[in-house]
Amino acid sequence: MTEPTTPAPAAQPLIVLAGATGALGLLIAHHLRRRGANVRALVRPQSKTGAEAESLRLQGAEVVAVDYDSVADLTRACQGGSCVVSALNGLRDIIVDTQTRLLEAAVAAGIPRFIPSDFSADFTRLPEGSNRNFDLRREFQRRLNQAPIQATSILNGMFMDLLTGQAPLIQPGIRRVLYWGSADQPLDFTTMVDTADFTAAAALDATTPRYLRIAGEVASIRQLKADATAATGRSFGLLRVGSLGLLGTLIKITKTLVPAEDDVFPPWQGMQYLHNMLSGQAKLTEPLDNARYPSIQWTPVRKVLAENR
Ligand SMILES: NC(=O)c1ccc[n+]([C@@H]2O[C@H](COP(=O)([O-])OP(=O)(O)OC[C@H]3O[C@@H](n4cnc5c(N)ncnc54)[C@H](OP(=O)(O)O)[C@@H]3O)[C@@H](O)[C@H]2O)c1
Repeated sequence: MTEPTTPAPAAQPLIVLAGATGALGLLIAHHLRRRGANVRALVRPQSKTGAEAESLRLQGAEVVAVDYDSVADLTRACQGGSCVVSALNGLRDIIVDTQTRLLEAAVAAGIPRFIPSDFSADFTRLPEGSNRNFDLRREFQRRLNQAPIQATSILNGMFMDLLTGQAPLIQPGIRRVLYWGSADQPLDFTTMVDTADFTAAAALDATTPRYLRIAGEVASIRQLKADATAATGRSFGLLRVGSLGLLGTLIKITKTLVPAEDDVFPPWQGMQYLHNMLSGQAKLTEPLDNARYPSIQWTPVRKVLAENR
């Protein structure tokens, strides 16, 4: 007599994650594993032995070295996946060329869904030339929209974490919040962790639309001033540097003086992001999709500032 068999638990979906060794990629991998997904992390051969790859293995991800120049190699690495998530970062060679090979591989391997490495403000309506990195995302978007695969872009505004670092808005030294244009323009901010958690949930959700828009907090410059004051217990003021026209001129001057065209984030690139946000052109349209996965508790600006006092 044969032993009665219990049905095997339904196999967990396999998510193929490119750029898994990056800052956002590592967080997405963590949240995918926490949500029960199998993760296949695609890494460059030279990154296979690094600390990030080791951390991925410790989390239970399968780490696979791939030749990102080979569609055939990428296709092999995509076999069996239910969704490809790209958290790659770079310029044209990555955002357009490498992601196109990854897209071709996903289609060839029969993967039904693709989440590109967008993770940004709403670049979809911006005029060409107003932001070099967003132009590249729109270029890839045109290819993605033609491909026989279900695509979902996650638009999350600015990473809130940047408010305590790279973004020059909140200046603790002089206790001022710097801005151009209007102090009342609503701006979208989401922490990297919340973005990663939402992306993991979206990767496991077969019914996502073309765009998902999220913001941990929508805050104006005036609100940032109140948040900085409350978080630090020290009174912050506003400092209007000038108009958006002046910021546009500063971008042109900086680009001429420090072209650094091969850098992903040269100084003028950060200024272009600021211009897109402060002008409202890259504002996420509402309603936002924050409530789509109710388990996610959105981190507010005040908490991020308080933790970095
Ligand atoms: N909204 C915002 O405020 C904001 C801010 C920052 C970033 N982002 C976005 O978040 C996404 C991820 O950025 P990140 O900061 O996490 O990037 P990151 O830390 O620089 O990681 C980039 C990833 O891409 C991989 N990569 C780089 N060049 C590659 C190549 N030639 N071939 C294959 N893989 C390559 C890296 O692999 P290796 O480990 O092998 O180098 C790494 O895994 C991007 O879309 C970025 O624009 C958004």
